[in-house]
Amino acid sequence: MNLREAFDRHSTSYDARFSGVAIGERVRSEVWELADAAFSASTHILDLGSGTGEDAIHFARKGLHVTAVDVSPGMMHRLKTKADAAGLSAGIHCRISEMDRYRPCDFRFDGILSNFGAINCVDDLTWLRDVAQPGLKPGSRLVLTAMGSFYPLEFIVFLLKGQPRLAFRRLRRPVDIAIDGVPVRVHYHSLKSIERMLGPAFHLESVRGLRSLLPAPGWEHIEARVRWLAPIDRLVCRARPTATFADHFVSVWQYRP
Ligand SMILES: C[S@@+](CC[C@H](N)C(=O)[O-])C[C@H]1O[C@@H](n2cnc3c(N)ncnc32)[C@H](O)[C@@H]1O
Repeated sequence: MNLREAFDRHSTSYDARFSGVAIGERVRSEVWELADAAFSASTHILDLGSGTGEDAIHFARKGLHVTAVDVSPGMMHRLKTKADAAGLSAGIHCRISEMDRYRPCDFRFDGILSNFGAINCVDDLTWLRDVAQPGLKPGSRLVLTAMGSFYPLEFIVFLLKGQPRLAFRRLRRPVDIAIDGVPVRVHYHSLKSIERMLGPAFHLESVRGLRSLLPAPGWEHIEARVRWLAPIDRLVCRARPTATFADHFVSVWQYRP
């Protein structure tokens, strides 16, 4: 399993396949709706598993200082190129590191973001307590977007196609998948297990699903056929008991040690 190699390869097509497609833009804007509110009083945030920098650039554009951490030099190279082009590199500090080994030691920050499945590459999230303890200001928020362990649309489509192994794939823990041909181990965390791993200093404020019955990026070809499910998708994604039944779900936590 080599995260760095997998995401280095993935970095060349990530924006074209995820961030830059219409559905990708829509789901990211839903995360931003929550994250903008969560970081409305923030000045310096950590972006863990920053990828090609869509979020780092978004928040730097709003005047926040962002420390972006990612294990993949390829992803970081894309981030720096995009930040330079946008004239925002002064506001983004880049660190190539495994996020669970990264410890900020020389500054305080007032927000943490980890978007679109970066935390699914790490089994144990208790290290987030060690990241928060020395540097996260009390009252600050942590915004985590994780892949859900049950995505109803994907489940139904794979069952209808007679592919039960794929339909039940997310329910096995952990799951080995290939990212651009490189095997990577993925951990599908439940909201309860995230809460347990974060510990008592983090208090859940909200959770929202991103795509339960509507297609996620990569499923554009069926979008027109399932558009009528949009109102039900919205209900499932917004209701707390069902919000994690989605391709990804965002959770917002407040740090109150
Ligand atoms: C699916 S991408 C998401 C990127 C970005 N957060 C976004 O919203 O577009 C996952 C990212 O997490 C990074 N990543 C995965 N495991 C990591 C780890 N243990 N430490 C640091 N970065 C990691 C990958 O290199 C990749 O850039």
